[in-house]
Amino acid sequence: MRQHVNPLSCNFNQIEKIPSLSEMFGDSKSKLHLDIGCAAGEFLFDLALFNTSWNYLGIEIREKLIKNAKLKVIEREIKNLYFIFGNANNILNDVQNKFIIKNLKSISFNFPDPWFKKRHHKRRVIQTGFINMLSNSLQRGTLIFIKTDVKDLFDYMDCTISSNVNFKTIDKEDLNYFESFNPNKVKTDREKYVILNQLDIFEKIYIKI
Ligand SMILES: C[S@@+](CC[C@H](N)C(=O)[O-])C[C@H]1O[C@@H](n2cnc3c(N)ncnc32)[C@H](O)[C@@H]1O
Repeated sequence: MRQHVNPLSCNFNQIEKIPSLSEMFGDSKSKLHLDIGCAAGEFLFDLALFNTSWNYLGIEIREKLIKNAKLKVIEREIKNLYFIFGNANNILNDVQNKFIIKNLKSISFNFPDPWFKKRHHKRRVIQTGFINMLSNSLQRGTLIFIKTDVKDLFDYMDCTISSNVNFKTIDKEDLNYFESFNPNKVKTDREKYVILNQLDIFEKIYIKI
């Protein structure tokens, strides 16, 4: 069992300097997807190969995973994939990094850490303030995907996002209309485990209106 990392620890107050989109990607004009809590990045490596016309960005709080993922990107000479180490909340709240949010076409929160105890809910990556900040900075039409096997966490995330009037839910069947990648074609590591163990998956898609 891996030890959960406490995102509120002061270890994550210092944010690494994020390069510009043209430094991150071969073609900075491609549509941009962000995966928050990407772990070792396997989902994004698969997506980056599967759909080369998009750029993919992963943020992960476990430094070793990001170091390894970055090495793999260099070794494999992948030009549409970039990884950032740190607490996604701190990184995206930083004014210097608003350009990331403004350029996004979609964001995924795949199987975020559940932090079951009520007193730990403040460690969950989806928070009202964070969603309000996204709703103020995202372009209209940007999609947010959430997915988890924990019903309580799903209800919490759904309630937090749905409480913001700038987001409404859309059906998976309507994804093509929004020119998004189809997230069903690629499974995350946690999702593979959940499917293998025949656990429930709860998911929803929102659009910024
Ligand atoms: C349960 S794992 C799921 C990993 C992957 N998304 C998947 O579906 O297989 C949750 C991941 O989110 C990361 N994480 C948790 N809080 C985070 C935060 N505030 N910022 C960035 N990453 C975070 C954890 O370190 C962990 O790798």
